[in-house]
Amino acid sequence: MRKFAVSHLRTFGDGKKSLELRIQQECVHLCNAFRAEKGPFNPMVTLNSAVSNIISCLIFGQRFDYRDEYYQRILRLDTECIQLMGSPRAQLYNVCPWLLEYLPGPHQTIFSNYKQITDFLRGEIIKHKENWDPSNPRDFIDNYLTEMEKKNSDPEAGFNIEGLVVTCLDLIEAGTETATTTLRWGLLFMMKFPEIQEKVQAEIDRVIRQSRQPCLADRVDMPYTEAVIHEMQRFGDVVPLGFPKKAVKDTKLGGFFIPKGTSITVNLSSVLHDPNEWETPNTFDPGHFMNENGQFRKRDAFLPFSAGKRACLGEQLARQVIFLFFTTLLQQFTVTKCPGEEPSLEGEIWFCSPP
Ligand code: HEM
Repeated sequence: MRKFAVSHLRTFGDGKKSLELRIQQECVHLCNAFRAEKGPFNPMVTLNSAVSNIISCLIFGQRFDYRDEYYQRILRLDTECIQLMGSPRAQLYNVCPWLLEYLPGPHQTIFSNYKQITDFLRGEIIKHKENWDPSNPRDFIDNYLTEMEKKNSDPEAGFNIEGLVVTCLDLIEAGTETATTTLRWGLLFMMKFPEIQEKVQAEIDRVIRQSRQPCLADRVDMPYTEAVIHEMQRFGDVVPLGFPKKAVKDTKLGGFFIPKGTSITVNLSSVLHDPNEWETPNTFDPGHFMNENGQFRKRDAFLPFSAGKRACLGEQLARQVIFLFFTTLLQQFTVTKCPGEEPSLEGEIWFCSPP
């Protein structure tokens, strides 16, 4: 499934509308929605809808209007699931499901929400099947249906409707909340550190100006903005733990013996805040990613997407979305705190990997 999704992501964008263009078009919708707000507002729902639309284009071949009640409901249910998964009682369910299975609690809400979300996905798949043309694939679902047909004599390959439902759900969940939360942290940092926001805007004015939209080619000419975005990801630390893996054989790693069958979870947070790697790990400072000549500097300990064979498969997509959304927003808006209020940099734990 991973290989299949990676190859789809790679070819996505070669079609009628390139991925970059789709993200730029979504930026226009996002800015219009922000502009329509009167007075202070919480950008969370609109940002989530905009990011999710990029994943929707990939999976369903279409975006959804921010006022589409049904789709908004699906997004709300999903956000609630991710939020509840971090609650102590949902974690307890993960440890002893047999004990809590029939008792009320957040795990029941999670199951009910997922039932509604997967029903929505099944409905979209049925619609796709009605006018599916294998010679003219529109999106991930069409490509998957073709693969299902190719592999129908090999049930072990796992290409079936339920596999498609779960894969769509994985892509939506992994791709939407992560990038949205990164952007929310980004806007909060800009609010908290106006001098950094001014420097990003000065770079936007120098490289892009106001007459055109930001594009991906601008990245190389914008080392300060790149440094700010990297620091947003480091300090925002939106996926503190990787997903659990199991050792397939006895292994020695860094002087430790790991017996076959041991569950291992990578603590990405410890890398992103490692005092041996970062000059001031607990301070938001884009200088972590700049060298003395004002150029962008890569850092080995920058691992928000994890590493290895099962690292994030959406890294390239996420980086494009974050760059284009962030620069477009700061080109058109200045984020400020409400008078008399001091924004807090305290985070909340939502989704947690099962132990
Ligand atoms: C800021 C945005 C994102 C961050 C910080 C992020 C981070 C991560 C991390 C840390 C992992 C776990 C890797 C591990 O366990 O070793 C992961 C896995 C994954 N991510 Fe992302 N991700 C982001 C965006 C996306 C997007 C946009 C997509 C999809 C289009 C995506 C799809 C996935 C998938 C499918 C996996 C599971 C990969 C596997 O198990 O083989 N992610 N991501």
